[in-house]
Amino acid sequence: MTDKLRPRSGELSDPERSPGSISKGQLLEDLRHIGVCEGDHIAVALSLRRVGTVQGRAEAFIDALLEAVGSGGTIMMNSHTPFFPVSQIESSDPKYIFDYRSTPTWTGVVPEALRNRRAALRSRHPICSVVAMGAKADHLAGGHDEDSPPYSPYSRLAEIGGKLLYVGLDDRMVAMRHEAQNLAGLMDVVPLEVAIRYLNPEDGRIELFRATNVFSCVNNLSTLVPALRGMGLIVDGKIGAADSILAPAKAALLAMAEILRGDPTKTLCRDFSCVWCRELERRMDLRERIEDPEIFQKSRALMAILGIINQRRMRGSWAAIKGVGLLKKIF
Ligand SMILES: CC(C)(COP(=O)(O)OP(=O)(O)OC[C@H]1O[C@@H](n2cnc3c(N)ncnc32)[C@H](O)[C@@H]1OP(=O)(O)O)[C@@H](O)C(=O)NCCC(=O)NCCS
Ligand SMILES: [Zn+2]
Repeated sequence: MTDKLRPRSGELSDPERSPGSISKGQLLEDLRHIGVCEGDHIAVALSLRRVGTVQGRAEAFIDALLEAVGSGGTIMMNSHTPFFPVSQIESSDPKYIFDYRSTPTWTGVVPEALRNRRAALRSRHPICSVVAMGAKADHLAGGHDEDSPPYSPYSRLAEIGGKLLYVGLDDRMVAMRHEAQNLAGLMDVVPLEVAIRYLNPEDGRIELFRATNVFSCVNNLSTLVPALRGMGLIVDGKIGAADSILAPAKAALLAMAEILRGDPTKTLCRDFSCVWCRELERRMDLRERIEDPEIFQKSRALMAILGIINQRRMRGSWAAIKGVGLLKKIF
């Protein structure tokens, strides 16, 4: 075992599961045990390292998933790719041009291996693409392109009664939590614009994709998972050595969206310098609603100054970016 594969302390809490390597058969057993069934349409996000040493690595993980859902089921993963604040696109590497047919994903070795399967379908969204394989792959990934809401495959998954499986990600319900923010009307409030060049497969031209609904702060969203757990929506289990959670996509999405809609302060992190959260609370006038506010949230004047600075930061002003660092030192 190399140092890289050696479990970090606390990761493999169950000694029965720690030693040795994990076979595809064991993964399949774990998937069934947590509640993955034949015919399921399931979005999976994971840390393979947390699973332990898997014999056959990413390919074996995919095979186990495909076997678990059978020919009537579908697996879907995020195959997201890099993006830049719009103010930095000019100085970004001009050679990086997203092409949905060939650009590798940055969401891990397993989604990347799935993307490389011939039978898998990758969507065309220039930043938030997904890759899907199985009976409903076309329904989930088809039509998800530069004109689509970035996390819409997750609403599609919810509509068809799909499930969510997060493996070794603690309470990070990646992507789905953005879709919940979107349904709660929070993704369009702060126009933090990101951009990327992409190859339009229809005419072969390089175009600039710009979007204000891709990025949001997720630092506080892990707190939604215990709430879902309290509603009986989460099954906890192990896949290999990784603590994992399974949930019905629709119920989880609607519940998270409802919590956020009812109280948008639930999405806010506590970091003074977080432009997304600070602008959201200012634009939605959430200050009075924040339970147990931080010192800076108590001061209307400071929030107003921060608002002015953040407007400039969103336009990429370095002076404003430094200004926030200075304010942080003072408070
Ligand atoms: C970022 C993320 C992928 C990192 O997890 P990770 O476990 O370090 O990375 P991968 O799943 O790609 O697994 C690769 C690791 O497994 C290790 N590995 C190698 N062989 C292995 C084997 N046979 N079995 C298991 N792991 C192995 C690799 O060494 C690599 O670790 P290294 O980078 O330290 O070398 C994960 O934390 C995550 O966030 N996943 C979700 C991503 C997502 O969908 N994001 C959407 C945002 S909206
Ligand atoms: Zn934040």
